[in-house]
Amino acid sequence: MTQAENTPDTKIYQPSEAFVANAAVSGMAAYEALCAKAEADYEGYWADLARELISWKTPFTKTLNQAEAPFFKWFEDGTLNASYNCLDRNVERGLGDKTAIIFEADGGEVTKVSYSELLARTCRIANGLKSLGIGKGDRVVIYIAMSIDGVAAMQACARIGATHSVVFGGFSAQSLRDRIEDTGAKAVITADCQVRGGKKLPLKAIVDEALAMPGCEKIEKVLVVNRADAAVTMKDGRDVWMHELVASQPDTCEPEWVDAEHPLFLLYTSGSTGKPKGVQHCTGGYLLHAALTCKWTFDLKQDDVFWCTADIGWVTGHTYITYGPLALGGTEIVFEGVPTYPDAGRFWKMIQDHKVSIFYTAPTAIRSLIKAAESNDAVHPKSYDLSSLRLLGSVGEPINPAAWEWYYQHVGGSRCPIVDTFWQTETGGHMITPLPGATPMVPGSCTLPFPGIQFAVVDETGNELPWGKGGILVCKKPWPSMIRTIWGDPERFKKSYYPEDFKGQLYLAGDGAIRDAKTGYFTITGRIDDVLNVSGHRMGTMEIESALVSCTELVAEAAVVGRPDETTGEAVCAFVVLKRPLPSGDEAKAIAKQLRDHVGREIGPIAKPKDIRFGENLPKTRSGKIMRRLLRSLAKGEAITQDTSTLENPAILGQLGQAY
Ligand code: WTA
Repeated sequence: MTQAENTPDTKIYQPSEAFVANAAVSGMAAYEALCAKAEADYEGYWADLARELISWKTPFTKTLNQAEAPFFKWFEDGTLNASYNCLDRNVERGLGDKTAIIFEADGGEVTKVSYSELLARTCRIANGLKSLGIGKGDRVVIYIAMSIDGVAAMQACARIGATHSVVFGGFSAQSLRDRIEDTGAKAVITADCQVRGGKKLPLKAIVDEALAMPGCEKIEKVLVVNRADAAVTMKDGRDVWMHELVASQPDTCEPEWVDAEHPLFLLYTSGSTGKPKGVQHCTGGYLLHAALTCKWTFDLKQDDVFWCTADIGWVTGHTYITYGPLALGGTEIVFEGVPTYPDAGRFWKMIQDHKVSIFYTAPTAIRSLIKAAESNDAVHPKSYDLSSLRLLGSVGEPINPAAWEWYYQHVGGSRCPIVDTFWQTETGGHMITPLPGATPMVPGSCTLPFPGIQFAVVDETGNELPWGKGGILVCKKPWPSMIRTIWGDPERFKKSYYPEDFKGQLYLAGDGAIRDAKTGYFTITGRIDDVLNVSGHRMGTMEIESALVSCTELVAEAAVVGRPDETTGEAVCAFVVLKRPLPSGDEAKAIAKQLRDHVGREIGPIAKPKDIRFGENLPKTRSGKIMRRLLRSLAKGEAITQDTSTLENPAILGQLGQAY
């Protein structure tokens, strides 16, 4: 992986002169001037940008309120509407006929919607929601696949001041239930099914299963989009077909003007302890950074075709599909399917067909497509015309230099800058990233903070470390798009992100980092907590452990660690003590499958452990603490060189050597 320090002979890539000349932030001097401006007048810097990029109904007069830190408020006396900013104002600017979304379905069918059409569609859904009694301050859970309706449903919630919480379509009924309960949502928006890789996968049936569990009593309505005529059961009085609901609705709807701090959405993500937390984002500051990063990091221009391959169930899909590109009046791709269907050339073919100019994806996808391309020329990028591309991006996990080089050379034709964007669900948008027309690039490094963002690497006591020394990544100042709180749990917010160790003054990202001794460039060295990153999906080891031990008929005890994986970055490795004699061979394989399926049901297929190892016990110290570092070595298949003298039961290390 990418953890290596930058060495003096690190290869540096410069953006081309032509790119620099036309870039929104052109040249390092321009980048440095922006940083200096933010340094000199932090509030003034953000206030100017907020006035320039956002249309306010009532202009704000206060920029940053730190009175209740770390519960910061930005632009608090301003009012606005996110959907107005993304849709109406583009129509008012004369972009009504411009294509907002090019939707490509799993099977290849293409549907385009203009800004006027997307506005009308959003308004009809918004009016439909209102007719069901849903309005400002209510929560709406959205459980739907990539679709125009998915984006429009999010926009419709924003339009009426309802707070949306999108749950990724790969989560199970149990996970969906947990999120529905925690949000206290009044309604769910879903579809009959989703279509991925040529298969129809149920959505509505999973919603039904979730709603049948205790905790979902507040749900009054379920709106169902008909994606593919899959068989569904509609519950009288509760379930409504979206097309029937919106058929008679007017296609205009006055936006609900909300305060800048009004919660735009909740998005659940994993932490090191306990159940997933509902990260709460606000309207004004969030939208500002979504738009600003599209402008500066993606250099998004009126004639670009922008494609972010993330799902709207993750933060990347929120910021770089639903909000950012639309706030700037961009044209974007929304893709329903998977990168390997009908074959691993799908991304390249779509870039060619739609003349995509900016492409943003995850290292895991790149690594798996490299593998496919290496053994089959037909799905190699060289077999496609990718000349429309001018900029590439990477997100979600570290990109290893070899994958970076391949992406640069074979996808970008050695002419497109790559922005390796480091950020998190909690940060709302890019935090550390090259600006493509300014920052010299170093493969494997996310380079320098976005102008105005003040990241540092510190030791355990919060003291800034010299460049060249690895430590803890923190942010020194609040920023507009930051997490506002954890929904319903402000104490957990404080403890997780503004810990006492740092006197409550520094935002703790949860990652380790090192700055290059010469350039100050940041390289992320991975999570410092018990969070795993598998294919760019964030998961807590505790969550998977709880899922395993909830299989009460089989499991006595479980411990989960991550191990490096060539394709997915990290892989989930589970150590399990069964309530029955130690299995081996086919029997062990069958039990491992049973446990994987169980985790799939509890959390979702993405959390299924890749390796399962059985033992009569787990390695523990005499005081009963599980020795996780030993488990990590076992998971990697390393020889055990650590001191095992404190281990109570050394014999079980042998048992745990076999992965099923
Ligand atoms: C990791 C995704 C290295 C990191 C936007 C972070 C990265 C977590 C990068 C957040 C990157 C994200 N380089 N690591 N460019 N981008 N990460 O909340 O560990 O799903 O804390 O947000 O992904 O994951 P999340």
